[in-house]
Amino acid sequence: MGDVMRLDKLLSMLGEGTRSEVRALVRAGRVCVGGRAARDAGMQVDAGRDPVTLDGRALVYKRVRHVMMNKPGGVLTAARDPRQRTVMDLLPPLYAAMGCMPAGRLDKDTEGLLIVTSDGQLAHRIISPKREVGKVYLARVDGLLTEEDVSAFAAGLHIDDGDGVFDARAAELAILSAAREESEALVRVTEGKYHQVKRMFAARGRQVTYLKRMSIGALALDPALAPGQWREMTDEEVALLESEAGLESKSALRN
Ligand code: URA
Repeated sequence: MGDVMRLDKLLSMLGEGTRSEVRALVRAGRVCVGGRAARDAGMQVDAGRDPVTLDGRALVYKRVRHVMMNKPGGVLTAARDPRQRTVMDLLPPLYAAMGCMPAGRLDKDTEGLLIVTSDGQLAHRIISPKREVGKVYLARVDGLLTEEDVSAFAAGLHIDDGDGVFDARAAELAILSAAREESEALVRVTEGKYHQVKRMFAARGRQVTYLKRMSIGALALDPALAPGQWREMTDEEVALLESEAGLESKSALRN
């Protein structure tokens, strides 16, 4: 299947400049398609097949983009917002232009693993509670965590608070450190209701003071990514997520 589009559209999608900037590049003879200098910025190119170069540098077109981000605190998980900075503002415009969206939502103050992808089906499957893709969070809470909390999480907590009523699915709680003032734990949940983890701890009388998502299914946050940093996912990581989400690998379709 081809991705036929105007050359200037392709160049600006690839982040080489605005439409008028890339037209100037074409006019200057700096862009080649299939080894020949392009004369017309409006020419149709098959982005998946026609080799395109700028000053001799091959431009790589991918139909689908998947980004792994270490979401920093203080940034909204949203495609856009008129007032506040969103995770999409941390990425070059190319990603929004290619239809990338965050897969699921982390609270503004939550850090950690966020997938931003142009594959809507994959995003949907990752967040669908039906798929039961496990998400692991590192949580710091005020107060002491005990084995009673572990059992209560495992039994499934009944949540009844200002945001609504629901029975949370059984969740795994692994206490990393426990003290009267503050404890730290890893929590694995398979659903993502509004403020899920914070509300589960609140149901046990604990307030979450720090929350970071460490993994989604078998995909762990790259420890080399500092908060606010991101990178494109490797083909292996994408295949891992796809199999977690019950999708056949689409890598054969990827350019
Ligand atoms: N649970 C929460 O309470 N907040 C998040 O951001 C993610 C899970």
